Amino acid sequence: MLRVTHLSKIYNGKVPYRALTDVSFHIEKGEFVGIMGPSGSGKTTLLNMIATIDKPTSGEVLLNRENPFHLSRSKMALFRRRNLGFVFQDFNLLDTMTLAENIVVPLALDYYNIQEITQRLQEVTRKLGISEILDKRTYEVSGGQLQRAAIARAIIHSPALLLADEPTGNLDSKASRVVMELLETINHERGTTMMMVTHDPVASSYCDRVLFIKDGKFYNEIQRGESRQVFFQQILDVLALLGGNTNDLTSLTLY
Ligand SMILES: Nc1ncnc2c1ncn2[C@@H]1O[C@H](COP(=O)(O)OP(=O)(O)OP(=O)(O)O)[C@@H](O)[C@H]1O
Ligand SMILES: [Mg+2]
Repeated sequence: MLRVTHLSKIYNGKVPYRALTDVSFHIEKGEFVGIMGPSGSGKTTLLNMIATIDKPTSGEVLLNRENPFHLSRSKMALFRRRNLGFVFQDFNLLDTMTLAENIVVPLALDYYNIQEITQRLQEVTRKLGISEILDKRTYEVSGGQLQRAAIARAIIHSPALLLADEPTGNLDSKASRVVMELLETINHERGTTMMMVTHDPVASSYCDRVLFIKDGKFYNEIQRGESRQVFFQQILDVLALLGGNTNDLTSLTLY
């Protein structure tokens, strides 16, 4: 579904900086994959290239066998709008609009008719438990509610691939759990393929598989078995080996 081959990124500043080196992996349709690694290891760089926000220096990204970087500008914008959904740490919702208006942006951009828009809005917001607050603005609701609205916006057009960068980064552990359970439900019920960058081993324990990167290179990957508890412990073990400025792991518990 997603195939990344020999992907490298060099940022051309005054001093060129090699942020990612020869990363290859693939993700099957319906998989939920986590990306972890120390700060500065290249996680956001990787996600941004898959999101077509940033261009690879070398290597290839194929989504359903299509290389978005071979498309014209306008076709690439359309490709992104139709195939991808994004959730960011800082929500990225506009405070001049209501939550409902924010959520339907991907549909409005694609000229869906009003009935279809209303129907989809009801469906996703009911599932995410935010149908009562749709007329509110971003500054009138909590962080957890905002993140659920951001998720609603990211899935309302049924993207093939949902990309999330630290979706629980600004949430407390209770709100994080709600968000992760929702992402898990979306993954199971809609079969949406998902890729999530996170520092949070609890959040990544909801994934089917976690890839670790270090210094811009692939480091290791582990697959979840039956138990989330066991997977959580395995994630902590790899993080301990990985070193870097990961959070203090000793005080962590599974939520
Ligand atoms: N636009 C840019 N120009 C130059 N260097 C950059 C740019 N963006 C990122 N970098 C550098 O590339 C490296 C990887 O950055 P990236 O944002 O991918 O890390 P990350 O793994 O997402 O870190 P964090 O966990 O802190 O978000 C870092 O050393 C960063 O300073
Ligand atoms: Mg990052």
